[in-house]
Amino acid sequence: MAKLDILEYPDPRLRLKAHQVTAFDAPLAKLAADMLETMYAAPGIGLAATQVNVAQRLLVLDVSEDHDAPRVFINPELLESRGTEVCQEGCLSFPGMYADVQRKDWVHVRAQDVTGKPFEIETDGLLAVCIQHEMDHLIGKVFVDYLSPLKRTLLLRKLEKQRRHAG
Ligand code: NI
Repeated sequence: MAKLDILEYPDPRLRLKAHQVTAFDAPLAKLAADMLETMYAAPGIGLAATQVNVAQRLLVLDVSEDHDAPRVFINPELLESRGTEVCQEGCLSFPGMYADVQRKDWVHVRAQDVTGKPFEIETDGLLAVCIQHEMDHLIGKVFVDYLSPLKRTLLLRKLEKQRRHAG
């Protein structure tokens, strides 16, 4: 396994739309394993292929406390959703940035595993939020897109400042 580089906002590649995965082969399994390793090392609870510069509809996540429940979603599709909830979100492409985002509270999603086998999941809470956040990455959308222009400006200014100090 290998750690991958995570693209950081405002890298334009974060805006690319990912393609449907059609080959469920060894390179795909390796990509999923590398993405999980990268996510755990960051550390984070979710990572979309878009964030590691791979334009394929693949995301990984693990919202468990012990980091022992890795999940891989390939070609995820939202079938149904209900309710709303506001949750504080962060993103590995926005290090150190957090903001409240309104999402659906409950989702029903269909996806495939690394072997191509289809599965469905109905879930709520943090897992539902995380799935929606990562699915957005696959269509080139990031969480700051949900913020008001003022809030977005403040957050991005903070990100800039933080980068200058780091550099
Ligand atoms: Ni993210």
